[in-house]
Amino acid sequence: MPAKAGIVVLEYWKNRHFLHSSNHHGNADIIMSNESGKQLAAEAALKYVDEDSIIGIGTGSTVNHFIDVLVAQKLRIKGAVSSSNATSERLKEKKIEIFDLNAVGSIDFYFDGADECDPHLRLIKGGGAALTREKIIAAASRRFICLVDESKQVGVLGRFPLPIEVVPIARSYVARQIVALGGHPVWRENVITDNGNAILDVHGLSIVDPVALETSLNQITGVVMVGLFARRPADVLIVGGSSGVKILP
Ligand code: 5RP
Repeated sequence: MPAKAGIVVLEYWKNRHFLHSSNHHGNADIIMSNESGKQLAAEAALKYVDEDSIIGIGTGSTVNHFIDVLVAQKLRIKGAVSSSNATSERLKEKKIEIFDLNAVGSIDFYFDGADECDPHLRLIKGGGAALTREKIIAAASRRFICLVDESKQVGVLGRFPLPIEVVPIARSYVARQIVALGGHPVWRENVITDNGNAILDVHGLSIVDPVALETSLNQITGVVMVGLFARRPADVLIVGGSSGVKILP
């Protein structure tokens, strides 16, 4: 039986810092500089926050910086639509009211991080297993503001294993279909998503046509959501790094 989602997801969050940093140099200094890049991106994102509005808020360490600076700067928002139980917990701690997307309708601005981004603002997301709700909120939002540190930038997506949320009973079936497409799926064992599903992390993909791949993966029966955000990319990408902040496009 998988362990309780919250505990295992927390372990995963700790370990994944090494996954991102080992893509580069894999030492503590790099982890620190990634953190300051995230912090810079989070601070720069505040200019997109309209006071008294309801905003969408994603999941992850970059978004946690964003929530913290939002509160520290005393920006008054009406509340937030949250993409995960983890983010909801943090919002509650900060006394930010949480709204149900169904009650809110469309949202003007959605703020979230990413595991990878390409020059066309297409993304890989789902490192924190929150991709399904993240993708729904991104779809329902007029503007998706994505905040990353510079280690997340790639020319071609696929260095970070692509997360796919699947209905548990379909896990092996979906994995076989992915192998047929040339990927190497690995079950993120002991992680259960907030929706009660499993995650497959697909290695070995060089994603030269992200829209086509997203479309074909979406067709596999049993797939709940694909962590490729290509059909609906970010609208604005804020990159924090050693030379400051870059805002794209
Ligand atoms: C969670 C996500 C996150 O946005 C992504 O994993 C980036 O996380 P971090 O900001 O901690 O680097 O997609 O499902």
